[in-house]
Amino acid sequence: MQKLSETAAARFFVALVVAFAISAPAAAQQAPDRARVDASATRPPRPGDEAEMHRFIADLMSQMTLKEKIGQLNLLSSSWDVTGPTLREGYRDDVRAGNVGAIFNAHTAKYTRSLQKLAVEETRLGIPLLFGYDVIHGYKTIFPISLGEAASWDLAAIENAARVAAIEASAAGVHWTFAPMVDIARDPRWGRISEGAGEDPYLGSEIARARVRGFQGDDLAAVDTVLATAKHYAAYGQAQAGRDYHTTDMSLRELWDTYLPPFRAASEAGVATYMTAFNELNGVPATANAYLLNEILKSRWRFQGFVVSDYTAVDELVPHGFARDQKHAAELAINAGVDMDMQGASFMTHLAALSKAGSVSVDTIDEAVRRILEMKYRLGLFSDPYRYSDEEREEEAIYAEEHLEAARDMARKSIVLLKNERGLLPLEAGDISLAVIGPLADSKSDMIGSWSAAGDREERPVTLLEGIQARLGDAADVHYEEGASYSFDPEDDTGAFDAALAAAGRADVIIAAMGESGGMTGEAASRTSLELPGTQQELLIALRKLGKPIVLVLMNGRPVSIEWADENVHAILETWFAGTEGGHAIADVLFGDYNPSGKLPVTFPRNVGQVPIHYNMKNTGRPYSPGDAEQKYRSRYLDSPNSPLYPFGYGLSYTIFEYSDLVLDRTRLGADDSITVSVTVANSGEVDGEEVVQLYVRDLVGSVTRPVKELKGFRKILLESGGSQVVRFELRPSDLAFHRQDMSYGAEAGQFRVFVGGNSEEVLEAEFRLTEDVALSDAPR
Ligand code: BGC
Repeated sequence: MQKLSETAAARFFVALVVAFAISAPAAAQQAPDRARVDASATRPPRPGDEAEMHRFIADLMSQMTLKEKIGQLNLLSSSWDVTGPTLREGYRDDVRAGNVGAIFNAHTAKYTRSLQKLAVEETRLGIPLLFGYDVIHGYKTIFPISLGEAASWDLAAIENAARVAAIEASAAGVHWTFAPMVDIARDPRWGRISEGAGEDPYLGSEIARARVRGFQGDDLAAVDTVLATAKHYAAYGQAQAGRDYHTTDMSLRELWDTYLPPFRAASEAGVATYMTAFNELNGVPATANAYLLNEILKSRWRFQGFVVSDYTAVDELVPHGFARDQKHAAELAINAGVDMDMQGASFMTHLAALSKAGSVSVDTIDEAVRRILEMKYRLGLFSDPYRYSDEEREEEAIYAEEHLEAARDMARKSIVLLKNERGLLPLEAGDISLAVIGPLADSKSDMIGSWSAAGDREERPVTLLEGIQARLGDAADVHYEEGASYSFDPEDDTGAFDAALAAAGRADVIIAAMGESGGMTGEAASRTSLELPGTQQELLIALRKLGKPIVLVLMNGRPVSIEWADENVHAILETWFAGTEGGHAIADVLFGDYNPSGKLPVTFPRNVGQVPIHYNMKNTGRPYSPGDAEQKYRSRYLDSPNSPLYPFGYGLSYTIFEYSDLVLDRTRLGADDSITVSVTVANSGEVDGEEVVQLYVRDLVGSVTRPVKELKGFRKILLESGGSQVVRFELRPSDLAFHRQDMSYGAEAGQFRVFVGGNSEEVLEAEFRLTEDVALSDAPR
């Protein structure tokens, strides 16, 4: 294998050397014949050497025809047939003709190698293809969905999950993942809320950094790292009414203070690529938005990687009503800063003519090509185009024992205990009889959720039932019935209820596994209701009538409204879609082998009418608090409390954490000062446990109004039973900055409130004063 790689690399390099030799720069746009010479005299380029990279790419580009350059700007999809991976014959011809720079959805070492061979051996210059794939929460070993991982608030574990995904995917020939999705999402109707890190810009930014680090590692040239993509740039999470692909219209302040921070964080972490969003932003589609792409990303943030459109998003500028036709769409997109066209025909078909007509400059095309070739170089593809397609490594990496263990650990950490009346959980594993009921109790494919890459969904995923059985052993007294349907349109309403009720009647404790199907969240999966779909709620009510303790194990990719369950069942675990090892992880929590530590990264509303609802809202001129019930003219609903069912940051433990002694080391903060906020956290329960200590701030008066709370720090700590710890945070003026009335960035003098607690509502409070205005630049740190 090694030999083959070297030969191919040398052949590529020699082809270039010879091509340079035989064509003068002035004739660079003409395609000389493909050259074949003895390879031994040359050496392939080395990744990691910047000066050499620039020289190499400049040389290479001087040899490329306009057509070959435009070819690099196209990303086409491979497909997957019953027989395995395939590429349409027309696309193969496109690759041979040098019309394709990258392919996505192509994976497995063998297949990517065969495609790479086409590009390396059958195109004039042999420029290697880049292989992209949506490796979102695992490649084969599937971790919890991204929203679930975010609930762990464990940055090291989240980074490691991305690391494992990169190790597996890179061995299967994948160079580039379309992750992390860093869209702030505050509308649970939007199915893609499941793909991100929730509602908060601070938590979202920390997680964006962790994921970029995990995918890309320290060195893109290492064979087990992949290029990451910050997507969907930008503001896709605010699709109107939660309907996917819908319009986004927001103030620039909201854009900058809420939606851009995770994208900025990804850029600071060195993310290699950005993907544009499908939506328009304030009337200009993101895929032709020069303000977002050229101005903010490439100019202000000095982003050096490349920008890929989302799937056919360039073509879609036409139905948006922004471009007259595909040709116009290509012109608008590339001139706004899109470098690569995903699965559209616009760049491939029209850029040459646009360039000839002068509507797209050669410099613009060159710039896009350079950015893409640089990434290929950084991956080391010019020294060995086959280095990632490694069957031996693939065999070792896929479903490696330590990957499965990491997935189980991540899944345990992502589970949020929402209710635990009278300490029903953890269950005693001894002499217990259980009824495991519900459409999600034994469904393998649902366990891994949407966007689960190449993860096996038929054999590997461990269901809740299997996890419980594995934990309790053969002698276990476990009765399983599906009982209800989660389908929006169940064929048989209540036909299976009797069997479920009979099974439940024989058990000491009922475990109801309910929620959404894996496909009910993700792309194009918006909902207008947040209730448990199908006949699940009805079955839950029937089960409750048996008078037995019920544990509701939720599986879903968005906040669901479960007000009835919160009032009527005894314990509730939010387990998201927990991944390949999900059933084991949930069993670990159910039986107390792991003490749950997850905290909600997103607010759970009582009902869909409260949406949008998030913890960091504004106070209004007529704020309402429950004591004001008799006052009509307050900001409130007639038929629902304002408060959510479960607030942001919320999650219980099997132990009790007590907060005391919130102390600020100073109460006046100058421009160059920092305040140390300390709090004592004690574990007064009987078991060890982890707690996420959260720090929030409120700027009481501003030149523009400020949210009632904003997360500014968190620490996840482990405390032994009976132990306590002083947790410290540093606050600096930069932590208090926002885009002010004149859109300058900085912190304003005045009074601030600090809150510390185990969720965004139950907090200790203190105050301090910022003594002067502090102007800050928003240039990259
Ligand atoms: C999604 C992207 C994804 C792309 C490629 C699009 O439909 O919006 O998130 O990366 O497809 O699969």
